[in-house]
Parts: sequence; C-alpha cells; structure tokens
Amino acid sequence: MPIVFHSGSREFHIFNKDVSYIIEIMENNELGHLYYGKRLKDRESFSYLHQEEARPLAALAGNTPSKLCLQYARQEYPSYGKGDYRYGAYIIEQPNGSKITKFEYISHKIYNGKKEIKPLPSTYVEQEGEATSIEIVLFDKIINTEFILTYTVFENRPVITRNVKFVNKGNLSLIIQSAMSACIDFPDREFEMIHLSGAWARERHVKTRKIEQGIQSVYSMRGASSAEHNPFIAMKRVGTIEDFGEVFGFSLVYSGSFLGQVEVCSHDTTRIIMGIHPNTFTWILGEGQDFQTPELVMVYSDCGLNKMSQTYHELYRTRLVRGYWRDRERPVLLNNWEATYMDFTEDGIIQLAKKAKDIGVELFVLDDGWFGTRDDDTQGLGDWYANLNKLPDGISGLSRKVEALGLKFGLWIEPEMVNKNSELYRAHPDWILSTPDRFESPSRYQHVLDYSRPEVVDAIFHMLDQLLSTSKISYIKWDMNRYITECYSRGASSLEQGMVMHKYILGVYSLYARLLDKYPELLFESCSSGGARFDPGMLYYSPQVWCSDNTDAVERLKIQYGTSMVYPVSTMGAHVSAIPNHQVNRITPLKTRGNVAYFGAFGYELDLNLLSDEEQKEVTEQIVQYKQYRKLIHQGTFYRIESPFEQEDTAWIVVSEDKKEAIAVYFFNLHHANVGWLCFKLKGLDSDKQYVLSLNDKEVSMSGSELMYAGIPLDRNKEGKKYGDFSSLLFYIREE
Ligand code: DGJ
Repeated sequence: MPIVFHSGSREFHIFNKDVSYIIEIMENNELGHLYYGKRLKDRESFSYLHQEEARPLAALAGNTPSKLCLQYARQEYPSYGKGDYRYGAYIIEQPNGSKITKFEYISHKIYNGKKEIKPLPSTYVEQEGEATSIEIVLFDKIINTEFILTYTVFENRPVITRNVKFVNKGNLSLIIQSAMSACIDFPDREFEMIHLSGAWARERHVKTRKIEQGIQSVYSMRGASSAEHNPFIAMKRVGTIEDFGEVFGFSLVYSGSFLGQVEVCSHDTTRIIMGIHPNTFTWILGEGQDFQTPELVMVYSDCGLNKMSQTYHELYRTRLVRGYWRDRERPVLLNNWEATYMDFTEDGIIQLAKKAKDIGVELFVLDDGWFGTRDDDTQGLGDWYANLNKLPDGISGLSRKVEALGLKFGLWIEPEMVNKNSELYRAHPDWILSTPDRFESPSRYQHVLDYSRPEVVDAIFHMLDQLLSTSKISYIKWDMNRYITECYSRGASSLEQGMVMHKYILGVYSLYARLLDKYPELLFESCSSGGARFDPGMLYYSPQVWCSDNTDAVERLKIQYGTSMVYPVSTMGAHVSAIPNHQVNRITPLKTRGNVAYFGAFGYELDLNLLSDEEQKEVTEQIVQYKQYRKLIHQGTFYRIESPFEQEDTAWIVVSEDKKEAIAVYFFNLHHANVGWLCFKLKGLDSDKQYVLSLNDKEVSMSGSELMYAGIPLDRNKEGKKYGDFSSLLFYIREE
C-alpha cells in the first residue's frame, strides 16, 4: 500500500519506489509537514523530523508546556493569523469579520485510483493500481466547515498530485479570499528557482535564480495563464543540471490567473504556495456549498532536469491529454495566416490547398478573416458565420471543396471575444466584461465576452454547433488575443464580482467540454496570441497548442527548449514559415526551419505559390521524412542536450521507448572561422546496442556507448563554409 497511516505516531506516509511525502497530525490537531523528497524506507514514526522551538517573540499554538509555534512549524495547509506570519495557503472571511480558523484532523480515506475534480481539468488514471489516493478531512467547528486535502501518488511515476476542496456544512455565509492548491514547506533554502517567463513572441524562456529570504514569485492577473509567466516553477538543488541532481517541479493544471510563490523565512525554511491568484479572486461559500481548487502536479527527480521534464511529458501526453487524438499521429497542416493574413478569396484558398495537397500536407487550416465583416481586426469577432463576399459557398461549401482535394479542413475561431463592430455586440452590449459607466479598455479593438454567464457560453456554443454540424471541420484553432481588464460581470451581484475571473475560465472549460462531447473527433489547437495560454489546463481539452506567434527558427529554439521543461513535443504547434521571417526579418535555411518545426505538431505557414521548384521539392521531402519519424518524435523520450540559454548552439534528441531508434538534431547558430571540431554527444541510447546513422552521406555503424561518450565528430569549419549561419544537422539513428 503506497499510502500508510501510522496511528501510533499519527503520521501519513505517501510513497512509491522513488518518492516519499510525510505528513503529521500535530499536537494541536492541525497538519504538519515532515518530509518531501527521495523515497524513505517506511517506519512507524519520523517525528524526529518535526522541528519545534519557541523562539523569542514567538506565539504558541498550545498552552504551556507546549512549545508548538506555528511560525516555525512546517505545515501542510497553513493559515495566517495564529502566530505564523508567512503567507498562508488560504483565507476565509467570516460574517463577524474574523479570518481566523482552526481546521483540525477528523478523518481520512485511502483508496485505489484517482477521482476527477470536475468542473476542473486534471490528470487521470486508466488502469487498476496505477495510483493510490488519500483524502484527509479537517474541520473547523466554529464555522462548521471542512476542507479535504487530496493527494494522489502514481505507482510508477515520481508524481504526487494535490488539490483541496472546501465544504461549508453550516449556515454561515463565508468568503474564501484565498485558496491555494497546495503549500509545501521545505526545511532549508538550498535551492535555485527555475521559471518560464517572457512576453508575446518570446514565451517560456528559462530563468534561473538563487532564492533569498523574502518572497520570489511568478504570477498572472491577466485572466489567462499568460505569456509573461507559465504556471510552473521548479526548485532545484544548487548544482543540479540536465542529467544530475535533485529537482522538485510544481505545475498547476489551470488556465486562469495564478500565483506561484516561494517564501524563504528568516530561519531559512522555504515555503511554496501555488494556486489561483488571490488578488483577482474571492469566492462566496454559502450554506451547503463547496469550492474546488485546481490540481497541482508535483514531480520529483533525483537525476536532473531532463528526468523531471520526461516525467511531465509522459504524464501529460498520456494522462492529461485524452480522447480521440491522444495516441493518434497528428496531421501535417498548412495554415494560411502568414500566407495571406485576412486578405484572401475562395479561389486563392483552393489554389493554396491544392498546392498543399501536392506537397503532402494532410490538413488545411483557414485562419482569421473568414467570418462576419472581418476584413481587418476592427470588426467581426462574435459573428461566427461565413463572410459570403469572400467565401460565396460559406464554410460548408469551402470545407467540402477542400475535402474533395483529399485534405482535412480546419478553421480558426476566437470564441471568447467580440468586436464592438459586430452583430453580436450590437445585440448584446452587456455581454462583455466591463465596469458600468466607465471606460472599457479595448485591446486589438476587441473585448472579452462574459464567460462567467452560462447564457453567453450557450449562445456561442449554438453558433459554433451550427457551423460544425453543417460543415466538414476536423480541426479548430481556438485563439484568444487579449487579456481581461475591468473584470466585472453584469450577470453577477456586487458581492459576487470577485468570483467572475475564476468563473470565466470555468466557462471556457465548459465550452470546450460541450464541443468535445458532441464532436469527440475534433482536433483542437489552443492558441492565445501564440503561446499566452500554454498550460496543463488547456491540454486537457486541446492536445496541441500554438507555441508562439514567433515563427523564426532561431527564436523558436529558445521558445521550444523552454517549453520542453514541462510540455511534451507533441503538444507544441510548430510551423515552417517564409523568409525573411515576418517577426524578425531573419533569413534561415529551409532545412533548419524544418528541423525546428519537426519537434512539435508540425506544419507550414507560408504562401506555397512563392516557393521555387527546388524549394517545393525540398518541402515535399521534408514532409515524407516527417511522416516517417513523427510517431518517434511525439512518443519517444525527449532529452535536452545543448541549451540556447547557455551557449550559441542548441541540441536535443528523442529516443524510442525500446531504444531501438532515435532522432537527434544539432542547431548551429553563427559560424566562426578556424574553430575546433565538435563532438556531439547523444543521450538516452543503449550503450551496448550497435546503431547505424548517416554521417557525411555515408552509413556508419557506432555503438550506443560511442555515440553517447565519444560523440559524433562534426567539422564546424566545413559545415559553416558549406551552409552558412543557422545551419543544422539531423541524425536518424536505428539499431543495426
Ligand atoms: C494570433 C495567432 O497566434 C495567429 O496565429 C493568428 O491566428 C492570429 N491571431 C489571427 O488573428
């Protein structure tokens, strides 16, 4: 049994072969935290790990002779106000204005499996014995309210998930002002914090910093998880690198405003809290009501960052992504956005689709500009029916014509948004989030529909349903091109306004769920001005996410490398685009553009009419090759080898589960004159296996040990002279 309760010591030990997590019921009946890390052999009591000392100025949590002092105790789900001056995990305001609570242990339940936490997305299990869960129930008798802390430990993965549910069993109306998904108190501060931060077109760059006494955090108060910070932090031991050392990952399955905060106290303990951002949240918990927090997924690795990432990749690819597309090979697509922007005709689109078919593309995607009066971005959002001036036979006709060419048809929508210049806005001006009588901040000329109101979600569902049921649509790119401002709903009372931002994202999830219920084979690609909502919550509905609006191959190396910290290759939408690149004007070889986009959900986003015959031949070969490797690329184990954040070049490899084949790539950045040779050392192969690969146009045979420890010798001077800057080498390696 991987979860044990020792009744004598009143300790819970959650463990598997890799990891241990130990909780105690403290003398005041609240929960204390004893240990999280590499697996410990179980024993009756780990009470020696409880550190207790009544320091000067400390307030006690029990009468003398108790020395329990919450300021210095490591706790499981703490609150502010009873002597602990750190940020707590929750705040509940009561009708008398007090925020003091005391949740005491009353019971627990251990069971096989893992429950859903509807209406929120979460990881899941499929087989008997895959995971074990425990629910620990704590109760505050003054406010007649309980919270249930749920932990799940996976049998064969170094993964523990957590979530919290609040249940009001009394008749007081409570206001939850903060409800984190988890708190983890470490006994020391010997960590560096990794986070994925950036902005539009440079999302998820890897940032690493030494933590210090005080607060360090990542967050979003934008209503989306954001391009600025991803809902992920990793705490690594100083010295931990890709393939060595200890690291703890924390990834929140949530797509709205979030907080991930690390607090080091004056006695050098480290507290991590992660959950919905309290600044944009309050929740009224009336009599008999409950509130469910999002899930936090904690991954432990004692052999470096690659292992942590591989654990997230495998878990998210197989136990978060679900449905028809989970294990299926994703279609190679052509998206018309960078080819035509909004300026297209049906003839032009058909012409492009024909070319796409000729080179081996499987799915044609029509992007923004096909609906309402959408000739530019000032108008049309909200009117999800075809612009018949551009598409005389509507989407129904166009989709059938594209299918007749032997391609699947996909369509862009932005269902959470409305332009003031639209039929939808004119009919329902009160459906946008905005404060009465005040300025309504536009962004890209658009406003956010109030998805906290079920009738708004319902109306959009019916419009989309009409479209989907009358056309041949296999794929939807669901975009979201602005953040929330003036988060006020005309459908909510003054007291309920603090609930709107969270209800908004629940509304988004509910629309995804309804569409998938009715159209289970629809492939969604989530998008938010590129990668501004690339998070685990989205992956539950949308197996792939457009990684970034930045399609430059060199810029993409950093973005995809950073994204790989948590997210599988199969989830990263990545396209070959035109040169000079539309975002940075850079010219890169077609081969490198292909090699970068290969490590993602692959496609093209350029005007195929402008390709030379030679280029057409090259992309045709690129697609043939991709189809041959895509299963390996999407389902193999991904290892980062060279980091673009640490030096000029970038390299990575994907190895099949049986280690019989692999695909490795080395990206050169700028070439320099008269430099030394390079040994490209691979990872993840079987050192005893004999492999073949093509090197300098010749098949060579090398053992896994040679490939990993001696490396593939590469002559940089020759490579530079032959191909110039930004060249790259792709190696397919198979067992001999
Ligand atoms: C932002 C997306 O990221 C782009 O790919 C494109 O779909 C535009 N929106 C369309 O407006």
